[in-house]
Amino acid sequence: MPNVLLNHEKGIWKKSVASTNNYLKENKIEQGSWISADEQTEGRGRKGRSWNSFGEDKIIFSGKIRFEKVKFPVSLFSLLTGCAVLKTLIQSAPEIENDLQLKWPNDIYRNGNKIAGILIECEQEGEILDAIVGIGVNLFGKSIPDDLKNGGFLLDKKPTDEFKKKLIENLINALNEAVVLVGDEKSIGKEIAFAFEKSYLRGKEIKAIQNQKIILGKQTGVTSDGFLIIETTSGERFELMDTDPSFEVL
Ligand code: BTN
Repeated sequence: MPNVLLNHEKGIWKKSVASTNNYLKENKIEQGSWISADEQTEGRGRKGRSWNSFGEDKIIFSGKIRFEKVKFPVSLFSLLTGCAVLKTLIQSAPEIENDLQLKWPNDIYRNGNKIAGILIECEQEGEILDAIVGIGVNLFGKSIPDDLKNGGFLLDKKPTDEFKKKLIENLINALNEAVVLVGDEKSIGKEIAFAFEKSYLRGKEIKAIQNQKIILGKQTGVTSDGFLIIETTSGERFELMDTDPSFEVL
């Protein structure tokens, strides 16, 4: 059986839901389906955090994808999903391409401010993996809440409904492309290079703790598993699988 990609025809449009990721889970929606909501009342972020979309216009999207044979680490799919969202946002707003960056593993930043986040939730049975990919993008607004000072918006002017529809269409295509790429060893290198070229962390001092050891260094790349490579000034090399509360950009 082939993977089940997102199907443009299988969209659900809602005014408000608690969480679009939860909606796909709780309603046992079939693979290949996706949902877009105008508002979310209990949006969830990575690491058990909440996700409060702000501003006037936003994308709140989740899609359900089935991998029939998982031969890759989820960390790689997570990175490629970040690349897919970044490519979609560049496609939607090419005039600000140089302002947009990928903050490993998969946040999107504009000029140093977070404008989009991704929450991937997986269930695996044998070799079959069902992934719910949730994406929140702050599109446009006039003010940023005080407690989210490093937040930002993709756009400087209000988007039309047409713009939002097109963005979702492009997002579905880019996510489907990521599903194909993650299983194609020959193409991974190009994606990894893109993730590093567009990396927000590149050149910045990073602090992390691994096995009770403090690491101070700079990102020198991304592994083919989607791990962050950090090198210290003394040339020691570390690979991080994910961020944790000790992870800091200095
Ligand atoms: C993060 O940056 O911590 C991830 C944020 C993910 C938010 C999106 S919005 C659509 C989907 N539904 C949720 O409850 N969360 C994700």
